[in-house]
Amino acid sequence: SQNRLLIKNGKIVNATGMQDGDVFVEDGIIKQIGTNLIIPGGTRVIDARGRYLLPGGIDPHVHFSFEFMGQTSADDFYQGTKAAISGGTTMIIDFAIPKKKESLLEQYDKYRLMADDKVCCDYALHCGITWWSDKVKQEMEILCKERGVNSFKAFMAYKDDLMIRDDELYKMFETCRQLGAVAMVHAENGDIIVENSKKLLSKGVKGPEGHEQSRPEEVEAEATNRACVIAKQVNCPLYVVHVMSKEAGDVISKYREQGWPVYGEALAAGLGTDGRPCCSSNYGLAAAHIMSPPLRSDPATKERLMDLLASDGLQVTGSDNCTFSSKQKAVGQNDFSKIPNGVNGVEDRMSVVWEKGVQSGKITPPRFVEITSTNAAKIFNLYPSKGAIGLGSDADIVIWNPNKTRVISAKTHHQATDINIFEGMECHGVPEYVIVSGRVCVDDGELKVVQGHGRFNPTPLYPPTVYDSLATEAEKANYAPLPDLITETADQVSQLHVN
Ligand code: URP
Ligand code: ZN
Ligand code: ZN
Ligand code: ZN
Repeated sequence: SQNRLLIKNGKIVNATGMQDGDVFVEDGIIKQIGTNLIIPGGTRVIDARGRYLLPGGIDPHVHFSFEFMGQTSADDFYQGTKAAISGGTTMIIDFAIPKKKESLLEQYDKYRLMADDKVCCDYALHCGITWWSDKVKQEMEILCKERGVNSFKAFMAYKDDLMIRDDELYKMFETCRQLGAVAMVHAENGDIIVENSKKLLSKGVKGPEGHEQSRPEEVEAEATNRACVIAKQVNCPLYVVHVMSKEAGDVISKYREQGWPVYGEALAAGLGTDGRPCCSSNYGLAAAHIMSPPLRSDPATKERLMDLLASDGLQVTGSDNCTFSSKQKAVGQNDFSKIPNGVNGVEDRMSVVWEKGVQSGKITPPRFVEITSTNAAKIFNLYPSKGAIGLGSDADIVIWNPNKTRVISAKTHHQATDINIFEGMECHGVPEYVIVSGRVCVDDGELKVVQGHGRFNPTPLYPPTVYDSLATEAEKANYAPLPDLITETADQVSQLHVN
C-alpha cells in the first residue's frame, strides 16, 4: 500500500539525542521505531544510510497572502507551503491579523478559507491583536476555546495600522494569562520610529538606507524590555517574535536567567544575511532586505544571534516569510517608510540554520532539531504529535544529507519572488526526502507536493512547557486537549488520493 513506508538505516535525531534505527510509517503516523522490524508486504523502503532523520521543520512565523502596507504578500498558502516542504519544513504557523476595529473571528474564518484547500502541509494560526475592546477580549476566548488558536501577537510598532498602547498590551497579556494562551509580541518602539522617519525624510534621507537608521537596536531593545516588564506585571509568559539584535537578545536572556518564562525567536534572515545590502545603489536588492525589526548592518549580529541560540538565550527559529516582488517593493522608491516590510525564508530556513549552526560547529544536530522544530511544537502545544520522531507522532520526517551542498538562488527557489536574500549562499545539508504526514513530498530530490494535503492543527491551551512554572494546581487540572476541530471535507479527502 502507498500508505506504508519503511525508512531504514538512518540516524534518528530528536532534541533529546540521536539513535540508529528504522522507522515504519503507516497512515501518516509513526508506528514502529527500532531494528529488525516486522513489516507488512508491499511497504515502500527508503534507505537512509549516512543520512539524518529529522523531525520535519516547524516554521512558527510566516505571512502568506498577507494584506500589509498596501500590498498582499506574494506567497500564498500553496506556494508558501510548497516552498516550505522543498526546504524540509513540514508545518507552518501563520497569523490572522485583523485591521483596527475588525473582528478577530472574521479574520480567522478568512484565513481558514484561504488556507484549508491550499496547504500542502499542516498549519496552525496565531491571531493578531491590533486594537482593544471588550469584543476583542470575548473573541480571544472563543478563538481559544472553540477555534483552536492558543497564541496572540501584539504589535508595539506600525503606529496607526497595528500598534497598541501599553495599557492595551497590559490587558491583552492579562487576558492571555487568564485563558492560558501564549502572548507574542513584535517589540519595537513605534512612536520613536515615526518621529525618526519624519526627521530623516525631511533631511532628504529617502532611500532604503533610512530604514535601519529610523529603528536602531535600542529601539528594539527598549520595547523588548517594556514588553517583558508588562508581561511580568500580570504574570504572563511571553514569546518575543523576530529578535533581530544582540541588545534585544540580551534582554530576553536576562529575564530567562531570573527564571521568567520568556522565549525568543531568531529568523533565518537574521542568521543568514545582514542589513548591508540596504545601502546598495541597487534599489531592488536593497528593498528586498527591508523588514522590521531591520536586518542590522553590523555583520557580527548574525553570529551573535546564533550564539544566543546555542546558549539557549533564544529558543526558536522562524522565517517571518512575508515576500513581496520587486514590483511590489518599488512603491517605496521615494520613501523608505513605504517599502512593504518583509523577506523570504520559509524555504531556506533549515539550510541556513544548519549551515550557520551545525556546519559551523556552534550547535549539535539535536539542538538543531530543538530550535527548528521541537521547541516550537512544545511552546504552541503541538508536541509530541509534531516536533519529534516518536511512536504515535505524525510522520513529518526529513531525510537530511549533511554531505551534499546546494547554492541558494532565486533562479531555483520555489517562492513567489524574484529576489532571494540568501542569493549565492552555499549550504551543506540537503533534504533528499521530505515526508509530510506519511506522504513522500520530496522524493530523492524531486518535489511532489499535493495541494490540500495539509490540515489545520488546533493548538490547545496551557502549553505545559510555557505554563508549568507559573500555573496554579487548579489551572493544571484544566490542561486538557481541545475537542477535535479538524473539519476535513469529502473533497479534500478524495483530492489527497488522486495522485
Ligand atoms: O517586516 C516584517 N517583519 N514583516 C512582516 C510583519 C511582521 O512584523 O511580522
Ligand atoms: Zn512583526
Ligand atoms: Zn511577522
Ligand atoms: Zn493517500
